[in-house]
Amino acid sequence: MDPSTAAPKARFIDLEPSEESFLEAVVAGLRSDPKRLPAKFFYDEEGSKLFEKICQLQEYYPTRTEIGLLKEIAPQLRATLPEGTQLVEFGSGSNDKVRILLEGVGRFDSYVPIDISREYLRAQANELAADFPEISVTAICADYTMDLHLPRHASNLPEARLGFFPGSTIGNMKRHEAITFLSRAAEILGAGAGFLIGADLKKDPAMLNAAYNDADGVTAAFNLNLLKRINRELGADFDLAAFQHDAFYDEAEGRIEMHLLSLADQSVSIDGQSFGIAKGECIHTEDSHKFTLDEFSAIGQAAGLTPEEAWSDDSDLFSVHLFRIR
Ligand SMILES: C[S@@+](CC[C@H](N)C(=O)[O-])C[C@H]1O[C@@H](n2cnc3c(N)ncnc32)[C@H](O)[C@@H]1O
Repeated sequence: MDPSTAAPKARFIDLEPSEESFLEAVVAGLRSDPKRLPAKFFYDEEGSKLFEKICQLQEYYPTRTEIGLLKEIAPQLRATLPEGTQLVEFGSGSNDKVRILLEGVGRFDSYVPIDISREYLRAQANELAADFPEISVTAICADYTMDLHLPRHASNLPEARLGFFPGSTIGNMKRHEAITFLSRAAEILGAGAGFLIGADLKKDPAMLNAAYNDADGVTAAFNLNLLKRINRELGADFDLAAFQHDAFYDEAEGRIEMHLLSLADQSVSIDGQSFGIAKGECIHTEDSHKFTLDEFSAIGQAAGLTPEEAWSDDSDLFSVHLFRIR
């Protein structure tokens, strides 16, 4: 191919979220009581693709609701953001949501997606760079809870940077973790920047339970893929047929909990160590906290952010919050 006609590619910075920490986290999680595995490890390439499928499910209202809100919000952002703003997305996943901002806001000259899922991030970033040749795309493969620095940006205006954290990924964190994450992200983005965050709202538990127990079993496959990944990458011998997806809303905690329920007394070996798992015992794989508008605003404030505006849909299913970093 003539290099002058080749599609633009994203720059790729790999901070190498490491395999060693994956092994350590899995061993520590299976030794703990109750057993648990960190949700961030769901996202290998297959996990990211399964999550993309979840987002298209009828039962999974958050994605389409948040997309509807972003379309509504875009003209307002267009009116307030300076030309040449840098957009920084934490846990970027698929391009579906960022496309709405790039097209509808039109003030960005640079986009920095940050995600732990290396190959999926690379593919999505290259696709976006090809579709928006006027925007410089620098993808960073990293664990966003760790230290990281953003690429230099041409604009000197402090407000010419917008953080973006959609999908209610913040709901995967406990309250204190969310506050720590937001404070750290605020430091990365810098004083004056905006921070646009999607947060799922409290609602009828039946609707929440349906969203995490879809009829096609995609969420179950997503949950079980974690064991598949541990088998493949860490040489473990989980028998996937001996576990069942289990997700339910805990009203007192205000969160969906996802577990893998053991259907038999079994023993699993990983890296020369063995772990007994009793029939009926659960491995806790994910929390997805739900909020009221005020609860989420208070979390932002506890992290030192100033709430500017919050939007929710007519049925109050999902919310998007704009904070300012002081
Ligand atoms: C719930 S999905 C949301 C994806 C997308 N932002 C959306 O709104 O549909 C969470 C995303 O965050 C990424 N992720 C999860 N934990 C992470 C971590 N600790 N560091 C970096 N990325 C992470 C996952 O790979 C995944 O793409």
